[in-house]
Amino acid sequence: MKPLELSSISEIWKSALQMLSHNLSSGGSDPQLWFQWGKIWRGHDSNGILPSTEFPTNLQEAKALRFAGRTWTSVKHEEMIWLISIKPETVPGFESPDWEIPTTVIPTLKMLSEFVKMECLLGLTLKILENRAGEHSGHWDRVRNLSLAIGKKMGLSGKRFIELELTALLHDIGKVALPPSILEVSRSLSPLERRQVESHSVIGAGMIREIPGMESVAECVLSHHESPDKSGYPKGLPLEDIPLISLIVGAADSFDAMTHFRPYAAERTYQETLEEMVGQTGKYDDRVLWALKEVLKDLGILEIKPVSFSEL
Ligand SMILES: [Fe+2]
Repeated sequence: MKPLELSSISEIWKSALQMLSHNLSSGGSDPQLWFQWGKIWRGHDSNGILPSTEFPTNLQEAKALRFAGRTWTSVKHEEMIWLISIKPETVPGFESPDWEIPTTVIPTLKMLSEFVKMECLLGLTLKILENRAGEHSGHWDRVRNLSLAIGKKMGLSGKRFIELELTALLHDIGKVALPPSILEVSRSLSPLERRQVESHSVIGAGMIREIPGMESVAECVLSHHESPDKSGYPKGLPLEDIPLISLIVGAADSFDAMTHFRPYAAERTYQETLEEMVGQTGKYDDRVLWALKEVLKDLGILEIKPVSFSEL
């Protein structure tokens, strides 16, 4: 299963690594923190995510073991095995044989364990969505990344940034409740079929609302197809009643669909797609479109044509 990395928890990784650094004064520097995901180990250092890799199985029992120029120690916490590696001191003769995991780090590892489990469950949920609802692989990941970039440009942070990421990942989760036959229709939908498909935002919001603490995300999922000109669904809300997060995810979702799922649009540039969205007066929020344009400018891809599936 593809690992799902939540950018929202990068601060927790950072604080765990900082805590390790503070306790390494006599043992080494540059700590890395790894956990196992299937056969692959997933790690972070102070600069962020490290490339996933396979390690020799004896590292799982490591106690100050030297490997690849670093010192490795494993920590078992509940059912998870963590690996902490440090760059040893270069003092001649110093082998840091007795280096122990600082006990102050254990609560943070415990918290990270809970988040990792949540990431696995989210990854599993999105895999089900991909298989059950014919969701294109990679769509939700691109919508998540684009939504976060737009949100950052608009100054979202903290709790709202986490809600933005979860909304972007789960916005179409209600599609798992629809019959596959209706999601595979390639002709235009009948009014009844359209109403059925459109019910996915209400169904998804209902599923998420049952999770304690996720009420705001549920509201944002409910409104991800609402439009400032009141032409959206399910309620036809006016701009002032649509959560900003819904407007961001709705625009990112449309942009990705317009640049990846329409074979006849494969020759258009991102610039042309953006212009089409700007031209649909009232369908998208002006602030979001401004931020989207800034993100594309920053990435330097405004004039680049999107890759079509036939080229993959
Ligand atoms: Fe949707």
